[in-house]
Order: sequence, then C-alpha cells, then structure tokens
Amino acid sequence: MGDDMKINAVLFDIDGVLIDSEPVIARESVGVFKEFGIDVDTSMYGPYLGAGDKTFIDGIAEYYNHPLDFEETKRALYEAYERAIEKEGPIDGVTDFFDSLKKAGIKIALASSAPMFKIRMNLKAIKKEESYFDAIISGDDITKNKPDPEIYLKASQAVNEKIEECLVVEDSLNGVISGFKAGANVLAITTSFERDELLKLGAFATIDAYKTINHFKESIEFWEELENMKNNKVRYGAVDCIEAEAYKGGHEKLVERAIEVAKETRLKSYSPYSKFKVGAAIVSASSNEIYGGCNVENSSYGATICAERNGILKMIGSEGATGIQMIVVVTDDNPPAPPCAQCLQVMAEFCKEDTEIHVLNTHYLEGKEDGAYNIYKFSELLPHPFVLKKDL
Ligand code: THU
Repeated sequence: MGDDMKINAVLFDIDGVLIDSEPVIARESVGVFKEFGIDVDTSMYGPYLGAGDKTFIDGIAEYYNHPLDFEETKRALYEAYERAIEKEGPIDGVTDFFDSLKKAGIKIALASSAPMFKIRMNLKAIKKEESYFDAIISGDDITKNKPDPEIYLKASQAVNEKIEECLVVEDSLNGVISGFKAGANVLAITTSFERDELLKLGAFATIDAYKTINHFKESIEFWEELENMKNNKVRYGAVDCIEAEAYKGGHEKLVERAIEVAKETRLKSYSPYSKFKVGAAIVSASSNEIYGGCNVENSSYGATICAERNGILKMIGSEGATGIQMIVVVTDDNPPAPPCAQCLQVMAEFCKEDTEIHVLNTHYLEGKEDGAYNIYKFSELLPHPFVLKKDL
C-alpha cells in the first residue's frame, strides 16, 4: 500500500505544468527571433525549451549558426511573453489539485529554471500569491539548470522534506531527468512530451490531465492513488481498475454501440406491474465491453432489480469487480429517467467522478421532436457518494 510512496511535499515545475505557457513562448518567440534575423522552425525546440533562457537562446543561436545578443533577445522575448500570458489561465484541474494537497497537509513548492520575474508573470496569470507556496526556487537560486538535479534538491531542502518523500511534477524531458537524478518520485504530465519518453527517463507514471487525480482529504488517500498510478491502476469508486486502451473505433462509436445495446435490452424488460421498461448499457473501463441490463420486477415489488444494477451485475459476473467507463439508460420517459438513488449507490462502488451517464428516451431514438438526450457526469448525479475505505 502506501509503504513505498510516502509523499510530504509536491514540487511543481511551472511552465507546462501549472500553465500551458510553452505554446505561448513557442508562438511568441517566432516573431521575436524573426526580428533578430532567424526564421525558426519550432519543431526543433525540444531539447531547448524548459531548460532556462540561456540554453534556449544560445541553443537557437547555435542551431541556426546565427549570433544573438543574449540580454537583448531575452528582453524582447519576455516583453512578448508578458503581453501574451495574461490571457492564459491555469491548466485545468491544477487549482483543485492544490486544494486537495492543502487539505491533506502536503506542502507545495515551485521549482522552475525560469527567473523569478517570469515566475511572477505566471503566478499573476494563474491568480496565486507567492505566499500560497511553501517555497519557490527559481533560476536565480541555482547554478546549474535542469537536467541537473540541483533545483529539486534545493526545493526539498527549502520545504524541509527528504527528497525521497517529495513528488516532482514535470512535463519536460530535462525536468523529468532532473527530478529523477535528485532522487524524487517523478510524475509527468503529458502536456509537452509523449508518455513513453517521459517514462523512459525516470517518471514512475504519467497523467494526461489533473482531473484524473481524484479529490482527496488525507495524505494516505493520495499516496494510495500514486501507488495505483505506478501500477497503472486507476481508482473507480472503491475498486482499482487497469484501464483498457481507448476503444479502437473512437469514443463516438462506443457511445453509439452502447445506445444500441441499451435500446435492445430494454425490449427484454420484465415489468408487468409498472409497465415501465428500462434498458441500460454498462461499459467496462477495463475491457470496453458493453453489458446490457433491463429492469426485472417481482410480485414482491421491493425485490425488483433496476436495469442499471442488472447490467452492473452482469459486468461483474463476467469480468469480476472493475471500473465503469460509461452508462447509457433508455426509457420512454420525458425528461429521460435518470438512475434511481439505489442504483447510484451501487454505481458509486465502480464509477469515477467523471464517468459519463447518458440518459435518453425512445422518442429521441425515433427522431421525434420531443425526444431528449442528457449527459451527466456521475458526480453531478451523486456529488457526495458513500464509499468505505477498505484498506486503510
Ligand atoms: N427502474 C429502473 O430500472 N431503473 C431506474 O433507475 C429507475 C427505476 C425500474 C424499476 C421498476 O421496474 C420500474 O422502473 C418502475 O420503478
């Protein structure tokens, strides 16, 4: 469990990690370099971005074999950057992640090769004060840029935590190497580079977006989630799931197929008492398989099983307990009936906050004008799910 992943501080790189500034730099720098006589092709930026101004500017000068005055170029780049960055907010989910870390009592530090004046521009853009962070280490505080480990070693000292108990969040190749060499656990976000490259250089896991990190209130919940990431598992409600590769035919096609299954299974409904037919499709997160369920009523009314639970039980009967990627429910109600509270409780065991629940009616399928189709996130239908923490 949390034994080998005990994190007391998270050390964030800034550019590409808290704010998607690298495309801004890449875009703005084209005009600036042009002013200085170089027509750059931004696809060659890989080794130079995220490694500090000196590496970037001198790297471009060397690559194009065209002298650049470092100070002058730097000033021009930052002027362009300051104008452009204001329009950029934080990367989606960063603020929620910060909130969870604060709640759990985990320290937050920033470690960026950028000079402090640039960090201030970025903090202004993401609307955070310097005092929000337990420490900030900038390019001004270090003698060697990433990929050297100096910056992360300094950051761990500044927050007074052992480097092995720090999590580094990075997006760049140089940053991952720096964190890894320092001895930290490196989580990479795939904003700028491919998952495989980041893992090869020492990241223990990658995430595509912060929203894949569940909210947490206690550090142990976070450690457990990191442990899951390491093992390639994602927490769905109360279960861990190794997710399937994205469905080959694409998401739209998967939705289409699930609707078809819900529609067909609805016709099998055993509902002589209510005469209300419900069809559901449960899409497994670990296999992309679709399980149909219909409601099955009983003479003793309370023994009735809803379509959604029927489909969920079928999935577990076939695959064992696993995550639910998506649910579709078809009724002839208007507005389309959402899952009942009992089903939502069962779903809470196997759904993530962002598991999509599609509810639609037969009129929609028949193309009638009063047809309706609504998509909810699980957390919208059950914002405060009750889930026991089994292993704590
Ligand atoms: N029903 C479902 O199948 N799913 C729901 O979420 C709501 C209710 C069924 C149970 C019963 O057979 C009928 O609808 C009327 O309550």
